[in-house]
Amino acid sequence: MHTLLVTGGAGFIGSNFVHYVLGKYPDYAVVVLDKLTYAGNLDNLRDLTEGPRYRFVRGDIADAALVERLVGEHGVRAIVNFAAETHVDRSIMDPGAFIQTDVYGTHVLLEATRKCGLDRMVHISTDEVYGSVPTGLSTEEDKLEPRSPYAASKAGAELIAFAYHTTYATPVVVTRGANTIGPCQYPEKAVPLFTTNALDDQPLPIYGTGTAVRDYIYVEDHCAGIDLVLHQGEPGRAYNIGAGNEVNTVELAAAILDFLGKPHSLMRFVADRPGHDMRYALDTARLRALGWAPRYSFHEAMEKTVAWYRDNEWWWRRIKSGEYLEYYRKQYGRQPT
Ligand code: NAD
Ligand code: DAU
Repeated sequence: MHTLLVTGGAGFIGSNFVHYVLGKYPDYAVVVLDKLTYAGNLDNLRDLTEGPRYRFVRGDIADAALVERLVGEHGVRAIVNFAAETHVDRSIMDPGAFIQTDVYGTHVLLEATRKCGLDRMVHISTDEVYGSVPTGLSTEEDKLEPRSPYAASKAGAELIAFAYHTTYATPVVVTRGANTIGPCQYPEKAVPLFTTNALDDQPLPIYGTGTAVRDYIYVEDHCAGIDLVLHQGEPGRAYNIGAGNEVNTVELAAAILDFLGKPHSLMRFVADRPGHDMRYALDTARLRALGWAPRYSFHEAMEKTVAWYRDNEWWWRRIKSGEYLEYYRKQYGRQPT
């Protein structure tokens, strides 16, 4: 039995990864460590039963004693770190939590990996560490030029990870994923926000002129890339994970509205995000050389995602209250009615 500590496993990508791993490897066990912040959601893990193959522990990755106790008690051999504050707009409002969790929390996990002699740590990072890329594709050797507090905290965590590899030979690998879409993503992010607003005939807030480009990848493809890096990635290296889809915000909103049969007049242009990165685009040759390729086109990924929100209103209607409405009012100056 191989036991993984999956941090942030109650969030969007983490919960999809837990299901991916438990489905793919019958001899693997997973311990989820998650603080259950506003973005953590036990509904994402509701179909899993506590037992020898799956345990859930509520706690903070910055709690070194807890992390080391879990590693010892459960015979953990590897850590996969999804735990983070993840939303760029929230990092602009309040960067402190990002530095605490994304930077200091990652350091605690690296220290546990080193002290407990684990076989591996996979640190989940982001294409945002490269900063805005007007032309061409970012390779893993490019300079890190993060521009938002979120991106800077993710870049800081990466630098500590690489320093641990250089200094202590800690077996850590880093993945840099593109904008991920799929089931169970908190509806502050563009795709679930636009979809759930469109389902309620509410405006889709588009920042600036809507020309910012992102590479949208389906969550299952992102999880497959992380799985490959977990097993075959070279310690001390970073791996880009992107699908090669370049889609701007207006095209994204149009695809969602068309799929749901809603009018384009729901697009509402609002104030731009300060320091908005206008384009990310990844060179994925390094991961492809290990045998990975995305399975879903942009339209397949988007349609599967939007259909999931259409068919699972119970999941997102519970979220769109309380804290969510407070955040929405602060960010957009209004509430979705
Ligand atoms: P998410 O916001 O949906 O979930 C984050 C999870 O981490 C939540 O369950 C939350 O409760 C947990 N968490 C937060 N602080 C914690 C702490 N101190 N201790 C323990 N748990 C804590 O995030 P996501 O979108 O699934 O992203 C997961 C990871 O992937 C993050 O590291 C993010 O930077 C990275 N990433 C995300 C994307 C994307 O498009 N969503 C793309 C590339 C990389
Ligand atoms: O690129 C990977 C990153 O993708 C991850 O590391 C982050 O955790 C994740 O949040 C995501 O960051 P983005 O800022 O790119 O994603 P978001 O969904 O917030 O925005 C996508 C694009 O849509 C971006 O250009 C901003 C724009 N947007 C977003 C929102 C929320 C709008 O125009 N209106 C909005 O209301």
